[in-house]
Amino acid sequence: MDGRRLLVSDLDGTLLGDDAALGRFGRWFRANRASWLLAYATGRTFESVDELVGQGRLPRPDAVISSVGTAIHEPGGLPWPAWAIGLDGWDSATVHRTLRSAGLTPQPPEAQSPVKASFAAPDLSDEMLDDIRRRLRSAGVAATVVYSSARDLDVLPADAGKGLAVRHVARTWGLSGDRVVACGDSGNDLDLLTSGFRGVVVANAQPELRRLSSPAVYHSTLAFADGVLDGVRHWTGTASPAAPSEAASFSRSRPTA
Ligand code: GLC
Ligand code: MG
Repeated sequence: MDGRRLLVSDLDGTLLGDDAALGRFGRWFRANRASWLLAYATGRTFESVDELVGQGRLPRPDAVISSVGTAIHEPGGLPWPAWAIGLDGWDSATVHRTLRSAGLTPQPPEAQSPVKASFAAPDLSDEMLDDIRRRLRSAGVAATVVYSSARDLDVLPADAGKGLAVRHVARTWGLSGDRVVACGDSGNDLDLLTSGFRGVVVANAQPELRRLSSPAVYHSTLAFADGVLDGVRHWTGTASPAAPSEAASFSRSRPTA
């Protein structure tokens, strides 16, 4: 590899959410394009990311990890080379049947794929999540259950998730984890932030990430794309952070854990 680093960012609630901050990010990225590879890691579909990039709302990335790490594409839409999810113990029809009978409501059809079963599931407690995992096991399904923002429940094959997908992409480029800065705001970023990269949690993150405590995870006091830039500066010293007068200050009190 040529000394570049990889910046991986979630979209909704991380890069997306404050247009002025996203503008600052875009300007920084254009000025530093030669030093960075860029990947998005999102719960959205590839098509939805492609549309945002096509509209010029987001810089063109070098890789798109979509549908909660169950798909990887080159920016032009070709599937990423040599990527396949292990499907041992996975059966999406059984996942849907099991969780519908547990009373959960599926998200719309466009949010479903053969390797991602997603449900609208407001305010699940840890006990309810344990019960869901138990039901899936009893039905003979090996799955990863991801809960985000007290709202979205994604059930994926056991060996899937943003962290694993980003590891694959980094390997393709010959990058070790310490050359990767990974940024997020909610539960579907948890494994991304604990996969051996330099993690960044933006200030507006959901509680499930704000309580993450690890030397490999930096909690920015800045929100959305300003938090991403602040994280890049923290881990590499290379991004000039958004000027304080420009950056939206985010004063939500933070947990001590
Ligand atoms: C995106 C996806 C949705 C998923 C959520 C959290 O909103 O569209 O299916 O549940 O991310 O991962
Ligand atoms: Mg998010």
